[in-house]
Amino acid sequence: MSGVHPAWLGGLGGGAGLGDDVVLTRDPLCGLEAEAYTIARSGGVTTVVAADEAGLMYGSFHALRLDGELAAQTHRPFVARRMVQHWDNVFVHPVMGQVERGYSGGSLFWEDGALTDDLDRVGDYARLLASVGINAVSLNNVNVHAGEARLLTDRLSEVAALAARFRQYHIRVYLSVSFAAPMVLGGLDTADPADERVKAWWAAATQRVYATIPDFGGYVVKADSEGQPGPFAYGRTHADGANVLAAALAPFGGEVYWRAFVYNHRQDWRDRSTDRARAAYDHFTPLDGEFAANVVLQVKHGPIDFQPREPVSPVLLSMPRTSLAVEFQATQEYTGQQRHVCYLPPMWSSVLSTVAGAVDAVVTVSNAGDDRYWTNHPLAQANLYAAGRLAWDPALDPIALLDEWIGLTFPPAAAGVVHELMRDSWAVYEGYTSPLGVGFMVHPGDHYGPDVDGYEYSRWGTYHFADRDGVGVDRTRATGTGFTGQYPQPLADEYESLDTCPDELLLFFHHVPYTHVLHSGKTVIQHIYDTHFQGAAAVAEMVGRWAALPPETVGEDLHARVADRLREQVRSANEWRDQINTYFHRKSGIPDAQGRRIY
Ligand code: GCU
Repeated sequence: MSGVHPAWLGGLGGGAGLGDDVVLTRDPLCGLEAEAYTIARSGGVTTVVAADEAGLMYGSFHALRLDGELAAQTHRPFVARRMVQHWDNVFVHPVMGQVERGYSGGSLFWEDGALTDDLDRVGDYARLLASVGINAVSLNNVNVHAGEARLLTDRLSEVAALAARFRQYHIRVYLSVSFAAPMVLGGLDTADPADERVKAWWAAATQRVYATIPDFGGYVVKADSEGQPGPFAYGRTHADGANVLAAALAPFGGEVYWRAFVYNHRQDWRDRSTDRARAAYDHFTPLDGEFAANVVLQVKHGPIDFQPREPVSPVLLSMPRTSLAVEFQATQEYTGQQRHVCYLPPMWSSVLSTVAGAVDAVVTVSNAGDDRYWTNHPLAQANLYAAGRLAWDPALDPIALLDEWIGLTFPPAAAGVVHELMRDSWAVYEGYTSPLGVGFMVHPGDHYGPDVDGYEYSRWGTYHFADRDGVGVDRTRATGTGFTGQYPQPLADEYESLDTCPDELLLFFHHVPYTHVLHSGKTVIQHIYDTHFQGAAAVAEMVGRWAALPPETVGEDLHARVADRLREQVRSANEWRDQINTYFHRKSGIPDAQGRRIY
């Protein structure tokens, strides 16, 4: 890493300091809760009052965003736990690289197995996260390989060095740990959570962690998922497994983030009785009430896997006696991989509007790396920015947050163009990729670019079932997998019925003929053609808009970077358009009503 690394491209935390027109008062008797603050600005002077240091810090960052007078307002975080998780491999993985699904260069923390020597950059990152309200970070990949497992034991000093940088900004660090750690690290012949030696191993290992890092946050665990070890091997439940780690952490105030991403990843595509969408609910809802108080069940926001469009996961609506975290993915694995502009907060905000009352934590998979702009595509910063702001206050308007980020980042002369490029970019992306909620159709493995049948005959459980007559997955109770029955009412009936299922989720829940007429009045096939032509055309327009912005308005380097990524987005969007349209034209034999070019 060399050169400058602007935070929010020169906005918050990028060296901006508080002037003497900001008065900070820490008053433990002010009656505010932890992290909360009251802020006002009058006569050109901003006052911030909080009961603790963290509250003062959040108030200070708010002061930097302020523009004009403000009558006193009190702000408090919606959830106490606002975490960013890094899928950092520590050692470069032969297939996944340094950061799994990382599209922003290398790691911020490790370089091919060794702790970074740029801890100042880690400090900058901590400030950047704190400026939007993040207060927890997990440092390593949820897939824990043998080398990374050692962070928990003999490499703890590295974790401590990172924790010291994050602590300055009131951020606690967490580690992803392997469920098999008692075997891999402890030399035991079992990881059975009922075995006393296993319990003792976790207790002792955890005690050592806290002796080194007294404010350590806890563990993140991906168990019985995509090949990771877990309690199923011993005939135990996930509550049995999670509770052993929770017991080890409890004396120190630590927590376990236990992931609900558990499904059969060795499915036979011929087997129509198994539905991956059902898996998390089937595994976890019977355990509601059985998890220890310091276990947070971490649930991906949709039932499958961070697709451009999914319904909300029913698990988030069905476990009232369990602490829940909703998991978002800022790293744009299935949404353009930080080469395409795709502003995701409108998606997250709509999820939060459904689950906000049910979740205790918001987790975001980080999209930052050692790239000069943090996120490869400079505009992808806005996803991380808004992820933090929405975790603090899910009621915030995602487009207002976009403008907030733009205002802190770009000069007024560029603001309009950036806004136009980004505002509808999720809808544009959805337009030229997999249609109507059916998902996938991506290139297997790297998940970039179109491959309509790439996963159709695979073991991963992600199928679209297109044939000459129709497309989509029948997840109804009446004739399909019964997944709609996992929702509470009114959603269970809304998704079940073709009359009420929203167009954008139609193919997630139903298999319909190409001639099925959507609520929009179009047939499914015409919708596919239209959205793909329109989506690709919208990207071509974005290129023109950006080119018309004089480079010096935003700096030549940044201008060139965005222009380069937009060129790739156009190429890729055209490829998507042509492959999807051609595929469905060939399957259905139905021509485009507008006679446009299909191959
Ligand atoms: C996706 C992703 C994997 C990741 C997994 C997870 O399947 O492709 O790289 O490990 O999600 O969230 O655990």
